[in-house]
Formats: sequence, C-alpha cells, structure tokens
Amino acid sequence: MKLSDRITQITGGGSDGWDVFYRARRMVAEGHAVTQLTIGEHDIGTDASILDAMNRSARDGHTGYAMVPGTDLLRDTVAARVQTRTGVPTTRNNVLITPGGQAGLFAAHMAVCNPGDVGLFLDPYYATYPGTIRGTGAVARAVQTSAEDAFQPRAEQIEAKVDGAVSLLINTPNNPTGVVYSPETLQAIAELCQRRDLWLISDEVYDTQIWNGAHLSPRALPGMADRTLVVGSMSKSHAMTGSRCGWIIGPEEVISHLINLATHTTYGVPGFIQDAARFALNAGSTLEDKIAAPFRRRRARALEVLAEQNTIGLVPADGAMYLMLDIRATGLTGEGFANALLDKHAIAVMPGESFGTAAAGHVRVAMTIDDDRFETALKTICAFASEMAGQQAAE
Ligand SMILES: Cc1ncc(COP(=O)(O)O)c(C=O)c1O
Repeated sequence: MKLSDRITQITGGGSDGWDVFYRARRMVAEGHAVTQLTIGEHDIGTDASILDAMNRSARDGHTGYAMVPGTDLLRDTVAARVQTRTGVPTTRNNVLITPGGQAGLFAAHMAVCNPGDVGLFLDPYYATYPGTIRGTGAVARAVQTSAEDAFQPRAEQIEAKVDGAVSLLINTPNNPTGVVYSPETLQAIAELCQRRDLWLISDEVYDTQIWNGAHLSPRALPGMADRTLVVGSMSKSHAMTGSRCGWIIGPEEVISHLINLATHTTYGVPGFIQDAARFALNAGSTLEDKIAAPFRRRRARALEVLAEQNTIGLVPADGAMYLMLDIRATGLTGEGFANALLDKHAIAVMPGESFGTAAAGHVRVAMTIDDDRFETALKTICAFASEMAGQQAAE
C-alpha cells in the first residue's frame, strides 16, 4: 500500500553522521564502558519536589482529560513568566501548552506553512528541524552559518535563501553550538523578517541556561510580537524531559487556531504534569539555578582545560549544555575524529556533521556526566587531538 509523501519524507536521506552515536550505544549494550557525551539529557532526574507535586495532583484526581489549550492556571503562570522576562504583554490567550517543545515546533510550522511553502532553518541545527518542517508538507531549506562568524547567522546569508520562504526557525541559546545570539544578530533577523514578511519561530528551550551574556527573546523586539511564535519547554530548564510539557507563545489568533490543531492531534497534556510544571515554575529561579548549576560548573572547568592546549578551538560556549569543539587542526573530519576517539578511548561525542554541513570539522560534547569524569574525558579529548595533529604534521 502506498504511504503519504508527507510521512515517508520526514527523514531526509544522505549521510547523517549519527553512525558513531549508534555504534556507542551498541558498545554499551555489549557491556563495554563508554563515556557518553552525546545526548542533551541531564544526569540528574526530575527534582523530588516536582515529583511530589505531580503525585499530589494525580492523587487529588487530576488524571482525567485536561483542558486542551492547557489549564488556565498553567497558561497564566507561563504568560506571567514570559511577560516578566521579556516585558511583552502576554496573557493566557497567547499561550498553548504542548506535549514538549518538539510538539510545539511542529504545531508552529503547521500554523504558518502551507504544503510546498519553504520553511527556513539555520545550519548547524538541532536534529529534528528539517524533518519537523517536512512533516507539515513544507519544504525545509537550510541556511548555512559559518564557523568564522562563531555561527552567528548573518542577515545576508538568510536573505540569499529567502525566495518562497514563509518562516524562519532560529534557536538561541543554540543546540548544537552553545552559542547565544547577540542583540545585533537578533535585531538584523527581526528586520529581515519584517522586510521579507516572514514568520519567526524562535526555539527558546534553553533560555535558562546562559553562562555569559543574557537571553533576548526576539518577540520583544519592535514589531515582532505579531509575527513571532516562541517555543518553550520544561525539559531543559527543569530536567523534565520525560514529562513532555512545553508551550507556544504567539498572537491570540494563531493560538486559537493552534488549539484546534491540538484538539485534533494531542488533545492536551495530562493535568498532573501541568500541575507539576506550574509548581516548578512557581519555585522560581532558585530551582532553575540548581538545575543549571552542573552545566555552569562543567563549562567553567572546560574553559580551564581548553586554555591549557592549543589544538582544539572552542566555539563561544555562552549557553546550553553543549560545547562545540573545533578540531580542524587535527586534519580529521568531525566524523573521523569521533570514530577514532570512540575506538581508542571509548569516549562518544557527536560529529559536527550530524547537525548539517556548517559544523563539519567540529565535534559536540554534551556536559552531561559528573564533573570529575567530564574533566577527565575532556583532558583525554585534548591529548588525543594534539596526538592527531602531531601525526598530521609528521606526514
Ligand atoms: C534545540 C531544541 N529544541 C527542542 C528540543 C525538544 O525538547 P522537548 O521536546 O523535550 O521540549 C530540544 C531537545 O533536545 C532541543 O535541543
């Protein structure tokens, strides 16, 4: 039987650079000790206080269908939080609660892309981006950013790819690069969106993980609230990846249509998860800081380790739980480096090539193991890089 083009074309074909990831998983399954620095998952579970709130809510009976747009209480909490953080007037009518940020990304593209329209995204990119856009029937078009610009996108790079585009998807703080977009970058993107009449879909799921500088939501820039859909999530800020709770913030009219989409797809998010999310958000920055603290510490250690060598370059690591290492001085590709590192030292990192083409010659290191093991692994990576560079120089 024939399947729809929409479903069969979600994954893209071509080399996706994920072989090393699956190989590391196989090695672990076969009983080998592998240091896994691959995936954006905290090494702590959801905080006990959040689990208690979840349990209380479920025991109090919030186990039936919840309101499809989200409970009024959670929508109000998210709206107040967004308004406080951005200064943009926001009410519950600007908020749809979604089963995680990923569902929000898909719904946001469903809201603005017709089949055949072009949805732009920036390379390097979070792995699901092209498939998310294609899943709506739209054409996913990558815009390359450049290592030489520290992966800050330039308006002219986007403008060169804009024909036929209705939307632009951005992500700051960024996965995979750890880069935080500067106010100048975001201002130029905002002007471009207005000039070329684009929707901006702003993935801000790492907005509480800022190590240097400040998070700026482009929805707060002049003229942008009417054309920006912000995707947020409890996953990274509150170590609630498995709870599947996120949101979209946007103009009321868009949110009302998205509620129709949710009614016909997800039918909402469980009430006890929403109550737990509300508890977590009300716990404020103390809890958020506690969850971000391990990454802040490891990033600080990483800067010290990397300062002691000169083979690996570090892309400015200003946010999120990743370091993007420039290993081009070794003469290896990201894939070649990651495979050799796995073979020789049983350390698994993600090749830059698994996030598109722009981060070729880089590897992404997730800071998601305990501090001491992380530091040891990073030192091994540095020594290995210097050995590889030495071999290349001798050839
Ligand atoms: C950039 C980015 N956006 C969205 C997501 C999706 O997060 P979730 O669906 O768990 O909220 C992730 C997860 O790793 C991510 O890295």
